[in-house]
Amino acid sequence: MPSAPRRTHSTLNDGPMIKTNNQARVAVVTGASSGIGEATARALATAGYRVAVLARRVDRITALADELGDGAIAIEADVTDRDSILAAAQRVQQEFGCADVLVNNAGVMLLGPFDTGQRDDYRHMFEVNLLGAITATEVFLDQLKQGGAERGGDIVNISSVAGRTARAGNGVYAATKWGLNGWSESLRQELLPGIRVTLIEPGVVATELPDHITHADTRQGVQEMYSHAAVTADDIAEIIAFALSRPRHLAINEVLLRPAGQL
Ligand SMILES: NC(=O)c1ccc[n+]([C@@H]2O[C@H](COP(=O)([O-])OP(=O)(O)OC[C@H]3O[C@@H](n4cnc5c(N)ncnc54)[C@H](OP(=O)(O)O)[C@@H]3O)[C@@H](O)[C@H]2O)c1
Repeated sequence: MPSAPRRTHSTLNDGPMIKTNNQARVAVVTGASSGIGEATARALATAGYRVAVLARRVDRITALADELGDGAIAIEADVTDRDSILAAAQRVQQEFGCADVLVNNAGVMLLGPFDTGQRDDYRHMFEVNLLGAITATEVFLDQLKQGGAERGGDIVNISSVAGRTARAGNGVYAATKWGLNGWSESLRQELLPGIRVTLIEPGVVATELPDHITHADTRQGVQEMYSHAAVTADDIAEIIAFALSRPRHLAINEVLLRPAGQL
């Protein structure tokens, strides 16, 4: 039995589908402890969604859910661990009934020259960026289909410019995002029209993404570049919220966006 939503949002009547709090759509955001995921959770909560914020850093998502109020729940989850995603899906079902929107945002960008020394990073990027998104989608799919039948479902996959243009030093990261792009197109065809699939492909966005790079020289160089980044996580979240807010007869399937000065 889903618990009754406990918060009224002032913007509930703004969206084409959201009429009352009882009908507020439910969004699940992976990697919501920082950057684009955190900003997306905020944007969707502001737009009247109930949100489940998932990540491993439970202190951060708990603080975020507390800030967003009673329509938000924090769930500790590692996208490389299917059992933790299963447990998250059960919690979403208990609290909210089902998920209408899944934002596959969790990701790592462990750049560096192609080298044996980076081999653990390669496997990890595939496990988080590609298999993590596939696993979360597979686990939440029944809920999304249920939400899709009732209110319309959405899957938003956070890819990258690197999913379209590979460069020296980002080969395996790019491969995970190229994989995400191909899988998203197949998924789009399988799930239409009840569930829309949207691919978001940002260029450089000011987040902590480069801080986790293990190759020291590369980390330093990328951090320096990111310290001048003009595009914010809020910019990307706004685009995601906009795409989701379109009427159900329209699907924005792909958005490629770069800082205006990025090659
Ligand atoms: N920033 C950019 O320039 C940029 C450009 C294009 C695409 N992207 C993509 O945008 C997405 C978000 O990145 P960001 O820039 O916002 O970086 P970020 O601030 O580092 O956020 C990454 C998020 O992924 C989560 N995460 C990492 N490993 C995880 C795991 N095993 N299980 C669950 N969550 C995990 C992190 O949470 P925990 O560590 O708490 O688990 C964190 O919330 C990524 O897919 C990235 O590839 C970013």
